[in-house]
Amino acid sequence: MPQSPSREKPTRVNPLSSARLASSLFQSCFATQPTAIASAPGRVNLIGEHTDYNGGPVLPVAIERRTAVAARVAERWSMVSESEGAAGEMAIDAPMRHVWSDYLVGVVRELRALRAAPPGAQITVATSLPIGAGLSSSAALTVAAAKALSLLAGRRLSPAELAEVAFRAEYHQVGVRCGRMDQTIAAHGQRATALLFETADGTLQQVPFPGRLWIVETGVSHRLTGGSLNRRRRECEEALAFCQEWRPGLRYLAQLRPADLPEAERRLPPPLVPRVRHVVTETARTRLAALALAGGDLEALGRLLVAGHQSLRYDYESTIPEADLIVETAVRHGAYGARLTGAGWGGAVVVLAPAAQDRRIIAEVAGEFTGRFGHPPVCWSTRAAPGVRRDTISG
Ligand code: GLA
Repeated sequence: MPQSPSREKPTRVNPLSSARLASSLFQSCFATQPTAIASAPGRVNLIGEHTDYNGGPVLPVAIERRTAVAARVAERWSMVSESEGAAGEMAIDAPMRHVWSDYLVGVVRELRALRAAPPGAQITVATSLPIGAGLSSSAALTVAAAKALSLLAGRRLSPAELAEVAFRAEYHQVGVRCGRMDQTIAAHGQRATALLFETADGTLQQVPFPGRLWIVETGVSHRLTGGSLNRRRRECEEALAFCQEWRPGLRYLAQLRPADLPEAERRLPPPLVPRVRHVVTETARTRLAALALAGGDLEALGRLLVAGHQSLRYDYESTIPEADLIVETAVRHGAYGARLTGAGWGGAVVVLAPAAQDRRIIAEVAGEFTGRFGHPPVCWSTRAAPGVRRDTISG
């Protein structure tokens, strides 16, 4: 089979921790020690996709792979990334350049607005997260940077403040029309827990999740700023405006109930109908999934994940054939469930499988994927991990 032109090289994960890597990169680039190092995790969203910008719930888990930022106060701004190379000297007030360092520039601008930025800094970044795999490498970067740079300015921002700085950096400065899920889990994640985040009122509820998850990367990169997410968000806003004509008090699409769908379907222009159906049914599935997880019913949780994937496939139209195949084979070989996670149009599938059989199931999935697409997928497992933290490097 010909390979997709957007296929990425398999992720290379350095065995050293990202904090240690950022620190040693700092010493080799700047010939001195960093004075603050912070790291934040990527995330896998169990369920609740494209609900966070529609006032619905999400159920993400912070993962063990992290991005670390090492920094030291300086007169100017200079940044080097282990994976992306040197961004050189940064002009914080100049127009964005559409490069990776825009995210850091965005964080600095937002910290300045809070008087929580240093005058300048030398910065290095290292990560064990795959970039563009739907695992929220950008929120890991912005939350870690917000923590490290605010420490340099002598401030201790709360997890909620760090999440808000990171969200504003991505949404207002970089221009990605994301919701608040990724920054919130990167800041508030906890070991062995998923987080039920009700985005309409900001409520956070920890749900115990001691188990292991598998990540199967499709190898197809998505770039959020490429427009698909922004386009879906515009469709949702348009749909909300239509719905408000018959429900004047409606603030979010996720406030509609499944019982409202027939009426909505009669009133909405046909292309918007499946988008609204996804948001409404996904909202219901996400709350049921949190209950299933809290009750230890992984089979029920798995069924909800698969229903969520089908909704993304047929109603939100954000899946890709690679992800559809992974979900289908994982379930056929005995997984509880599987689902494309994150924004979509590429990225990774999360697989929830019985612990005694998970390696066999993943091997079967990898075999069928290779047979169909001509290359093996990158697969790895993770447990729920802590959110942002200050790191110290000893020795
Ligand atoms: C991206 C955005 C999130 C969320 C997901 C889809 O990851 O950053 O805010 O909208 O897509 O659920």
